[in-house]
Amino acid sequence: MSAVITTHGLTKTFKSHTAVDSLDLHVPQGVVYGFLGPNGSGKSTTMKMLLGLTQPTSGDINVLGQPLTRASRTELLPSIGSMIEAPPGYGHLTGRENMRIVQGMLDLSSAQIDRALATVRLTEHQHKLVRNYSLGMKQRLGIAMALARDPALLVLDEPTNGLDPAGIEEIRTLLVHLAGRGITVMVSSHMLDEIDKMAGVLGILANGRMIFQGTRDELFAHSIPDLIIETPDPQAALAQGITATPIPRGIRISGIDKHQTAQVVHRLAVAGVPIHEVRRVQQSLEDVFMDLTGRGGML
Ligand SMILES: Nc1ncnc2c1ncn2[C@@H]1O[C@H](COP(=O)(O)OP(=O)(O)O)[C@@H](O)[C@H]1O
Ligand SMILES: [Mg+2]
Repeated sequence: MSAVITTHGLTKTFKSHTAVDSLDLHVPQGVVYGFLGPNGSGKSTTMKMLLGLTQPTSGDINVLGQPLTRASRTELLPSIGSMIEAPPGYGHLTGRENMRIVQGMLDLSSAQIDRALATVRLTEHQHKLVRNYSLGMKQRLGIAMALARDPALLVLDEPTNGLDPAGIEEIRTLLVHLAGRGITVMVSSHMLDEIDKMAGVLGILANGRMIFQGTRDELFAHSIPDLIIETPDPQAALAQGITATPIPRGIRISGIDKHQTAQVVHRLAVAGVPIHEVRRVQQSLEDVFMDLTGRGGML
């Protein structure tokens, strides 16, 4: 698959603090690329560098087949739609008037504006003042502004931030639809479940470093299942010095391989703890993510 964005050793240092550390990004063409990481992990800084809004301290960026430089940026920007941090748009103007500003700056046709508004389902609200829009509508207007130029690449920084589940679902459906039309969509979030269902490829950041990049299936391949042991006497099981969490009718041991499973079962059986059922359960993607980011683990 050809890549729309690649970086090598991309690094940004603020004084002594390294916000983005030697990032090798690989964003394939025509996918939704979910850029995940806790707050402060370096997502916005990375996206700003990809758009030429912030100069990298070191490293290379290649976007749409060209090295990103001051000169190439001017050429590339008409092909890149973006929304960084808060949604743009003047509250005292209508949605349409805001779009007209974008139209003038980029020399777009009215048909392009109509199409972008229709895609984000704002046609019927276009003559309302933006200050009366819901947050979801403001986010969608921001996406329409990014989309009107018919970009090859969309870079959206936390477009689902603060939305309710219905609003998140709406953005998710929209971005998957855009990727289906061949637009590459790079979208960041600090919430895995907001991204999980739409992203074909995930890049996970922690403390400025990429700790995982690949498909959801590849991420799951790194997970270690939990073990559930059903017993009428969880306390007796816990008394055997096993690190486990009590659950209704048993205990749960996280991240345990087959060899350790055999040892635990043996120890409980020898101690006379009644065992009704033993089963391994897949970690949730959330657990995998938390393991990677919260506990600072490396794959
Ligand atoms: N202009 C700046 N000056 C100094 N530090 C910054 C600046 N921008 C971001 N940072 C720091 O860089 C780190 C990454 O920030 P950011 O890219 O905004 O993370 P995220 O978008 O993942 O929340 C944070 O520690 C933040 O405080
Ligand atoms: Mg951010």
